[in-house]
Amino acid sequence: MSTISVVGTGYVGLVTGACFADLGNRVVCIDVDERKIAMLQAGEIPIYEPGLEELVERNVRSQRLSFTTSYAEGLTGTDFVFVAVNTPSGHAGEADMTYARSAARSIAEHLDGPAIVVNKSTMPIGTGDWVVGVLSRYGRVRAPVVSNPEFLREGSAIVDFNHPDRVVLGSDDRQAAERVAQLYASLKAPILVTDLRTAEMIKYASNAFLATKISFINEMASICERMGADVKEVARGMGLDARIGAAFLDAGVGYGGSCFPKDVQALVHMASLSGCHPQLLRAVIEINRDARRSVMLKLRAAVGDLDERVIGILGLAFKPNTDDLREAPALEIIRLLQQEGARVKAYDPAAMEKAQALLPDVSFCQDPYATASGADALVVVTEWNEFKHLDLRQIQQLMARPILVDGRNLYDPSEMKALGFEYYGIGRAAQSGELLNAGRVNGV
Ligand code: UDX
Ligand code: UDX
Repeated sequence: MSTISVVGTGYVGLVTGACFADLGNRVVCIDVDERKIAMLQAGEIPIYEPGLEELVERNVRSQRLSFTTSYAEGLTGTDFVFVAVNTPSGHAGEADMTYARSAARSIAEHLDGPAIVVNKSTMPIGTGDWVVGVLSRYGRVRAPVVSNPEFLREGSAIVDFNHPDRVVLGSDDRQAAERVAQLYASLKAPILVTDLRTAEMIKYASNAFLATKISFINEMASICERMGADVKEVARGMGLDARIGAAFLDAGVGYGGSCFPKDVQALVHMASLSGCHPQLLRAVIEINRDARRSVMLKLRAAVGDLDERVIGILGLAFKPNTDDLREAPALEIIRLLQQEGARVKAYDPAAMEKAQALLPDVSFCQDPYATASGADALVVVTEWNEFKHLDLRQIQQLMARPILVDGRNLYDPSEMKALGFEYYGIGRAAQSGELLNAGRVNGV
């Protein structure tokens, strides 16, 4: 059993802390946000993440997990300090290191015995070396640094923690990396030990590659639309090739969330400042921007002028099983709709409370049926399971005009047509008969 401190109790820090406690360690989570800590101390969970509430409750009850705003209290006698503060995008796309800087400084000032500092947050390449410098400048005790990037998907973060494909540990202190490896030993995952910068780069490269896969299939989708092919079948046909793999080939309104958008931006920023010309990554970002906007093109083509039209939005979170709205495609789509004068109604199973604070002019509905009622068009933005099992006949009847833009390709185009919908998927021109511009190719 080890004593672990986790600095930053957001999505990553709270899941990491609770999971380490569940493995039998004593964990103290530290956060500067007094409200959040007060909630956690009162047994409330500030975020929606399946399984997290039970996990936290069980470990708090067993006295393995506690919360504090005090660095002095949270770092007393600790063996490992995990840093999981946020690193948002700065003005030029760079990672904003303000929080990481203040966390590193506070850790240096409060550590009272030898401990290993573990960077969990995604931080620019070279941050580990920089944290080593901060700790030796302001600290009183020896504290080696290990980079241990997280690969937790929101919505399945606890499963991802307990069943990692790999654990990456980067350090210039081999012994420190091996001690961190011990924390993960019971998970029986492959462990890769590298130097600090390589581990930091593995995280960026992994996220950039997954984002590239998504933008790649979104580009194929727009080609499919114009050439009369079905991107869902194309992705299936590609994904069965083991060299390609089926994951992350779902075409749609693009990637959002707290990681892909900011990490690809930050990698572009770092690369270009060091003399590279990251044109592939720039294209990935641009295709993702277009993917969100393609919804507007479809709506305009189907509805006509959007002024005073009622548009229903199903799904606000950036993906299902979370209430996270960071970089959620729905936010941008709603703003674009409002700019064109549309009246927006919306429903999300988990993210409405957070959305209300961000979207004052949206009318929030209690379920998908109320959202469809009287709408001139309905747009599916997030593929919640709930939307896969709707009574579509009823939805069709409730709408003023049965126009459905399926931004996540949830439904079968021919079934939707049979139900009387004017259906627009993403990259499914062959079956939906939408916007078909499949010109003659070489005289065919
Ligand atoms: C964070 C990083 O943004 C991301 O780069 C990384 O890959 C994973 O960790 P997340 O956990 O989603 O992501 O961030 P967030 O939910 O914003 O939580 C960060 C927490 O750190 C907040 O609770 C915030 O109050 C806290 N924090 C921030 C501190 O405790 N101290 C600080 O100085 C700054
Ligand atoms: C991601 C990484 O997957 C994870 O390893 C960690 O680094 C944190 O960032 P997360 O952002 O929680 O996880 O969600 P993820 O499942 O990766 O999806 C990201 C976005 O891509 C979502 O908006 C999702 O809708 C979109 N997506 C995903 C697609 O558009 N198509 C796909 O095929 C897969």
